[in-house]
Amino acid sequence: MKNTVFVCQNCGHQSPRWLGRCPGCGEWNSFVEEERITRAKPKRRQAVVPENRRPVRLSDVAASSCERRSTGIGELDRVLGGGLVPGSLILIGGEPGIGKSTLTLQVCDRQAAAGAGVLYVSGEESAEQLRIRAARLGIKGDSISVLCTVGLEDIVEAAQSLQPGLLVVDSIQTVFSSTLSSAPGSVSQVRECTAELLRLAKARQMTTVLVGHVTKFGAIAGPKTLEHMVDTVLSFEGERFQQYRLIRAAKNRFGSTNEVGVFEMADTGLVEVTNPSRFFLSDRRENVSGSAVAATLEGTRPLLVEIQALAARTPYALPQRVANGFDARRLSMLLCVLERRAGVNTSGQDVFLNVAGGLRIQEPAADLGVVAAVASSVRDAAVRPDCVLIGEVGLGGEVRSVSRAADRLKEAARLGFGSAILPRRNLSKKLDAGVEVFPADTVRQALEILEVVR
Ligand SMILES: Nc1ncnc2c1ncn2[C@@H]1O[C@H](COP(=O)(O)OP(=O)(O)OP(=O)(O)O)[C@@H](O)[C@H]1O
Ligand SMILES: [Mg+2]
Repeated sequence: MKNTVFVCQNCGHQSPRWLGRCPGCGEWNSFVEEERITRAKPKRRQAVVPENRRPVRLSDVAASSCERRSTGIGELDRVLGGGLVPGSLILIGGEPGIGKSTLTLQVCDRQAAAGAGVLYVSGEESAEQLRIRAARLGIKGDSISVLCTVGLEDIVEAAQSLQPGLLVVDSIQTVFSSTLSSAPGSVSQVRECTAELLRLAKARQMTTVLVGHVTKFGAIAGPKTLEHMVDTVLSFEGERFQQYRLIRAAKNRFGSTNEVGVFEMADTGLVEVTNPSRFFLSDRRENVSGSAVAATLEGTRPLLVEIQALAARTPYALPQRVANGFDARRLSMLLCVLERRAGVNTSGQDVFLNVAGGLRIQEPAADLGVVAAVASSVRDAAVRPDCVLIGEVGLGGEVRSVSRAADRLKEAARLGFGSAILPRRNLSKKLDAGVEVFPADTVRQALEILEVVR
């Protein structure tokens, strides 16, 4: 029998011959030849969590292990659902250079200061490199043990002898087990090494953080089963040329996946941004046409962002519609609504839209902000600077209701805004706004209130 097998790098599906398209997940060109796993099969499949052979009553199970330890970084605690759960396995994925190692080292420092033993395993950087980074971040590191290895067996041995409260493996794609003959980073290596680390984490009640690479499509490299195996998957986002970084939970067995942590990358590492709205509005110039402030939601937290638009007569037959941080097709739709329902014509004009700060908005509640910014640029009339815009725009030109209107208004009041335009259906007696609220039924009405359209 041939000693190699073709394995789908996306889902782990195996085939004796190369296939163009994986029958398991439908991915194209994902099969890579790997050596068969030569390890002798264990008699009984080893479970990844401590087993109990007899059923026990759920209420009798001790819940003490659910106590969380704060990471010492508030924004990260928010995403994790309150802190680190002992014995949990956390996977952090993100683009190269986004700050994964920086963040994990900062967590190590806070955990070491809190008295938890910390073991930092690096398969990518030398101990000297780690030392230089630690010095830059102002981390002394006298309670952090460092191990530079890619061998799974070395990691397990060190973890068993040191018994740390926190183990960091940077990165899981570099780790390999000598009992498997496939190459490091291959599906079988990543899966088996993660399973072994999971067993260790659960058996020793040791929080384990795995750093993961991402593919060019932004998904975590390795088999999809990797994400199923771990308790929490965090993804690191941010623009290369922007200072801010966002951390979201793509999956969390111990908390909500709605929360987002906001950080700023500085010389001294990742600094928490506890007031993101102020951060994203910091460069705003008031009384300039083509600028509007929208109240969006990032997770459950309201976030005020500046939306900028510029419309100008095009020299080309086909006008350009360019959107940064906003869906370009949705922009085209909103331009049509503006033309047909509010009489603001952009045909024959190039339209550029930008969400300031490099943020990406996916929420439709920012529609009214986009429409106001474009209309303001077309008419060259500035939007009232103290007004926040909230509302989804429908094809009929109607302003549709949004979720959590009260939270958005509260954030606007907190940042010193004086008024807000709100979908009329969101208006209720209970709404304790703190700002003057102008209800709007249609886009035209909203633009009239803003005095952009008369
Ligand atoms: N001296 C410095 N001053 C400011 N920022 C720095 C400095 N050195 C590095 N950085 C920032 O730190 C980032 C690298 O962080 P880090 O090594 O934690 O990323 P990573 O996600 O672990 O990358 P990789 O995928 O390569 O391991 C750089 O992209 C840069 O933004
Ligand atoms: Mg790194």
